[in-house]
Amino acid sequence: MKRDNKGLKDKLVLRRRALSYAMDGPCLEAYAGYGLLFEELYRQRFPVGIAFDKNRDKAAHLARSRPEWAVYESDPVPAFSARLHQDVPFSFVDIDPYGACWPLLTSLFHERQAFQDTVVIAVNDGLREHLKWGHGGDFGVPPEFWGSEYDQYLALCKILIEKKAEQIGYNLLRFEGFYAGYQNQMTHFYATLTKASSLTRGTA
Ligand SMILES: C[S@@+](CC[C@H](N)C(=O)[O-])C[C@H]1O[C@@H](n2cnc3c(N)ncnc32)[C@H](O)[C@@H]1O
Repeated sequence: MKRDNKGLKDKLVLRRRALSYAMDGPCLEAYAGYGLLFEELYRQRFPVGIAFDKNRDKAAHLARSRPEWAVYESDPVPAFSARLHQDVPFSFVDIDPYGACWPLLTSLFHERQAFQDTVVIAVNDGLREHLKWGHGGDFGVPPEFWGSEYDQYLALCKILIEKKAEQIGYNLLRFEGFYAGYQNQMTHFYATLTKASSLTRGTA
């Protein structure tokens, strides 16, 4: 199996930081591949979770290697659009697709999806490469970013995830990220989101 070791190292650096803010609870690994991140990080940390990969061999490998998790040989976007597992209160969401994270975040962040009071989202996003050529499509870019999506992609990610969090009653508490990979076309970020009511609890 060909491995991009620098890419894997970047993902691990970001996720180790992100995990330090995670509560206990189920993990969602939306594009789980052959489970490299799972073996390095999640096996020890999350006894239960849900993993997706549309590739048959990878899904079979995932199912064999983590019997306590639910594993789907499927695209997670239509699954969460159809409200699959809306009652599972995720504490950590790993999004490591080949392309953009936004279709999954849009399908997952609906009003009935359960999350822990704090949920951490860790992302490796490949959309920036396409933004260079103006191929971002409509993924909710506010007018002030039109034309500068490539240059300001990380700032845009922060604003977009904050908006998505607000739609489900969560606040963005922490956001960190960096560009990496060939010509800095990969974007790595994590966001810590906290239920709005849990921030005010205890202050009344
Ligand atoms: C960068 S790799 C993920 C690597 C993984 N995080 C790991 O730790 O090994 C991206 C994965 O997304 C899967 N994938 C690509 N498009 C998908 C889709 N629409 N639905 C589900 N999985 C998809 C690929 O099969 C590939 O395994």
